[in-house]
Amino acid sequence: MNMTFNVKEPYVFKTELCKLFYKYGADKCPAIRHSYSPEYYTLLKEYKSQFTDILEIGVGNDCQLRYVFEYIPGASLRAWRDFFTDANVYGIDIDKNVLFEEERIKCFYADQSKEEELENTIRDIEKYTNNKNQKFDLIVDDGSHIISHMILSFKILSKYMRINGIYIIEDIKKEDIDRFKNIELPMGIEIIKVYEGKDSQDGFIAYQRLDFPGETFRIKDFVRGVCCLDYFICCLDLGTNKRLLSGKSHPGSLIRKV
Ligand SMILES: C[S@@+](CC[C@H](N)C(=O)[O-])C[C@H]1O[C@@H](n2cnc3c(N)ncnc32)[C@H](O)[C@@H]1O
Repeated sequence: MNMTFNVKEPYVFKTELCKLFYKYGADKCPAIRHSYSPEYYTLLKEYKSQFTDILEIGVGNDCQLRYVFEYIPGASLRAWRDFFTDANVYGIDIDKNVLFEEERIKCFYADQSKEEELENTIRDIEKYTNNKNQKFDLIVDDGSHIISHMILSFKILSKYMRINGIYIIEDIKKEDIDRFKNIELPMGIEIIKVYEGKDSQDGFIAYQRLDFPGETFRIKDFVRGVCCLDYFICCLDLGTNKRLLSGKSHPGSLIRKV
C-alpha cells in the first residue's frame, strides 16, 4: 500500500504498533488519526508472543474511513496479526461486503447491537476453530461506537475472555468515559486503563480478566493487609470487607502484612 501522509514528527512511529497500523492504513495510530498505538504497545507488548486469539468488532469500510488514503478493509486485523506472532485474528462486521479470509485472519458477520447474533458468531468461530470452548486474549470494539451497542457487546463478549485477556472499547468521548467506568463488571474483570486521548473522540477504556481478582482474597483471617502475588496486588480491610486498592504488581513479589 502506498501511503502519502506528510509525517514529520518522529514520535508518531515510536512503537512497532504505530508502524504496523500506519503500514496497513488503520487509524489507531497518530500518523493517521488516533493516539492509541503507543498506549496499546505499552499495554500489549508483554503478550506479543503469548496471545493466540484476537477478536475485533469492526473490519472497516472505505466509506467510514474515507479520510484514510486508499483504505483497504481489515487494516487493523492485519496489524494485529503481524504484531501477535502466533495469533489467529477474527473480525466481526455488519457489512457483509468487507468480510474476508487470509493468512491467520477470518471475518464473520454480526450486528453488535444484537445479543443473539453475537452469540451465533461465537458459535460460528467455534465451528471454524473446532473448539467448543473458544476464548479470546484480546477483544477490541471498533464497531458502531454507539454506547448501547458497546455496552451490550461487552456484556456478551467479556464472557469469552481468557485469564489475562484484555477487552478494549475504542473511540469513547470524554463526556461518556464515566459510563464505561461504571459498568457492572463480571467477577474477575477489572479496568486496567482509562485513556482520555488528545481530543474528544480519542478515548478508550481497557478491561482485563485477572488471574487473581480482588474477591479471591476475602478470607477471614486476613485483616487489613497487603497481599502481593505475581501480577496482582490487593489491599483489603476485612472489617468492612472493602477492597482498598488493587492493581498489577511485579512478578515474584511475596505476601507481606502491614
Ligand atoms: C471504524 S470502522 C473499523 C476500522 C477497522 N477496525 C480498522 O482499524 O481498520 C467501523 C466498522 O464497524 C462496522 N459496524 C458498524 N456498525 C456495526 C454493528 N452494529 N455491528 C458490527 N459492525 C458494525 C462498520 O461496517 C465498519 O466496518
